[in-house]
Amino acid sequence: MSESQLWDDVDEYFSAHLSPDDDVLQAALRDSEAAGLPSIAVSRPQGKLLQLLAEIQGARTILEIGTLGGYSTIWLARALPADGRLISLEYSAKHAEVATRNIARAGLDKIVEVRVGAALDSLPKLADENPAPFDLVFIDADKANNPHYVDWALRLTSTGSLIVVDNVVRGGRVVDAESTAPDVRGTREAIELIGKHPRLSGTAIQTVGGKGYDGFALARVLA
Ligand code: SAH
Ligand code: DHB
Ligand code: MG
Repeated sequence: MSESQLWDDVDEYFSAHLSPDDDVLQAALRDSEAAGLPSIAVSRPQGKLLQLLAEIQGARTILEIGTLGGYSTIWLARALPADGRLISLEYSAKHAEVATRNIARAGLDKIVEVRVGAALDSLPKLADENPAPFDLVFIDADKANNPHYVDWALRLTSTGSLIVVDNVVRGGRVVDAESTAPDVRGTREAIELIGKHPRLSGTAIQTVGGKGYDGFALARVLA
């Protein structure tokens, strides 16, 4: 058995026991694939981790950057109270359309809003609306802009908020200091920004699983 097959099987085993029989999430993945979206949503165990983090956080407001078909959105929004709010930013109108249908089927359309456009255009507009500080920000879009997204996340959060960044390992490419790949450079800059920022305390965790060898960075906003 290949190592990655084993990682898949272990994800399957954990999912079967810890987040079983979830028709709404299965349907979201099925319809995303049918619409031709890439299969790059977080894995089921990762999705459940996002939900648990938001619950531990007692989150009432969540910002997501990078919606795709709304799979991670649904996990996160399930942590919110009925009067909570999740705003998800997505560049592709097609992805946003698929996500909007998936979110409605999950019964979460009253608390979730998907905004179409490049996140770096949407974020200043969002800031102009003076939203309540977000309790959790999930960054999972174009990795080249990760340092800008961390910067915006800081502006849109307050003490105690949690920032999560997906795909910070990418098969280990993150350690290549000479890399000219925009995603690697963006992620390295984001990690280094978290490390040196006086208002952030962070870590990063390597993961294996159905999505290969990758990982999350986590950063807590300090006073
Ligand atoms: N969070 C999703 C996966 C997101 S995949 C999940 O786990 O289910 C990355 C998404 O970011 C894609 O849908 C892509 O269209 C979007 N994206 C890429 N560049 C972007 C940008 N500049 N602004 C907003 N979204 C962007
Ligand atoms: C890929 C995976 C992701 O989680 C993502 O956000 C973007 C791309 C990928 O495997 O290519
Ligand atoms: Mg991702």
